[in-house]
Amino acid sequence: MILVTGGAGFIGANFALDWLSISDEPLLNLDKLTYAGNMENLASLTDDPRHHFVRGDICDRALVDSLLATHQPRAIIHFAAESHVDRSIHGPGEFLRSNVEGTFTLLEAARAYLAGLDAGARAAFRFHHVSTDEVYGSLAPDAAPFAEGHPYAPNSPYSASKAASDHLARAWHKTYGLPVTISHCSNNYGPFHFPEKLIPLVIVNALAGKALPIYGDGLQVRDWLYVGDHCAAIRRILADGKPGETYNIGGWNEMSNLEIVRQVCALLDTLRPRSDGQPYASQMAHVTDRPGHDRRYAIDARKMERELGWRPAETFASGIERTVRWYLAHEDWVKNVQSGAYQAWVTKHYGDKP
Ligand code: NAD
Ligand code: DAU
Repeated sequence: MILVTGGAGFIGANFALDWLSISDEPLLNLDKLTYAGNMENLASLTDDPRHHFVRGDICDRALVDSLLATHQPRAIIHFAAESHVDRSIHGPGEFLRSNVEGTFTLLEAARAYLAGLDAGARAAFRFHHVSTDEVYGSLAPDAAPFAEGHPYAPNSPYSASKAASDHLARAWHKTYGLPVTISHCSNNYGPFHFPEKLIPLVIVNALAGKALPIYGDGLQVRDWLYVGDHCAAIRRILADGKPGETYNIGGWNEMSNLEIVRQVCALLDTLRPRSDGQPYASQMAHVTDRPGHDRRYAIDARKMERELGWRPAETFASGIERTVRWYLAHEDWVKNVQSGAYQAWVTKHYGDKP
């Protein structure tokens, strides 16, 4: 079996669902169920005996030790993190705890676990650390996209905490020989994306008749990748990636925030036109910029293609249409996330631990 951390969040849940749709290998899912973790994302796995969900904190060493001893996973795929840049600006403490201390705890637990395995199981084991392109900082408009050797220059508390966790993962490989792989992915979008992030926020605000907030001039550039393509890339790394290597994953799809918002609005104009016939783009509103806002990210994903034969399958046009259609078909999911109803369910179901 494999152990996935953060598998009730946006990317982790997509990974778990995709994994069990193409493989019978069981998946142990460890997630604290913070505001971003949502059991509704995993509802289709409720009666699936291959999915073992444990609510818990990756900082809880005793829990992680006992899960490793009991389930003997052949790999850890580590998604769990605080992930929202704006939240990290308001309150960085939780980012240091989950992202840095949490990764440290998992690395130490994995190191102890590996020491007890036989040589064959030890050689086959992998610890995959899921990181972000944000650790590289901001790119000038004409600079080449981030390749794997690009220097680190994180600019937000979030990206600094991810950079710190990357360094720990790298050091645990170099010093202790832990079979670590690391990936740096660009901005994901798709189903189950929490509506605090740009694309889902624009969809749900547009439908609710609210303003669509554009930070600053809206000309910041991101490289957007459909979440299923990110999950496929991680599966490739798990299968054939080399311990000690890092892999950059991106969509070859640089777009400004203004272009993104206009495209989402245009899709909504077609799929769910406003009752007054006005375009959704009329709801766009420029607001104060994010402090330390990175101007541009772009990923050079040639190593993934050259060494692991991976390329994104989805174009932005196909991926964004799938995404908008998903949100239109899942209004209850949005309502529950926004009302906090799923949090009430979590407390009811699990009590208030951890
Ligand atoms: P998310 O915020 O949607 O989900 C994070 C999940 O981790 C949640 O289910 C949450 O409950 C869980 N979690 C948080 N702290 C925990 C803890 N201490 N113990 C156990 N579980 C905990 O995040 P996401 O967007 O799915 O991102 C997943 C990973 O991918 C993160 O490591 C993030 O840095 C990385 N990443 C995200 C993107 C993106 O565009 N979203 C791009 C590149 C990399
Ligand atoms: O690049 C990978 C990263 O992408 C991941 O590591 C992060 O976990 C993930 O949250 C994402 O970070 P961003 O900050 O790029 O994503 P976000 O959706 O928050 O913002 C995307 C862009 O849109 C960014 O330039 C800020 C802008 N924005 C965002 C929001 C929420 C707005 O203009 N208005 C908004 O209301």
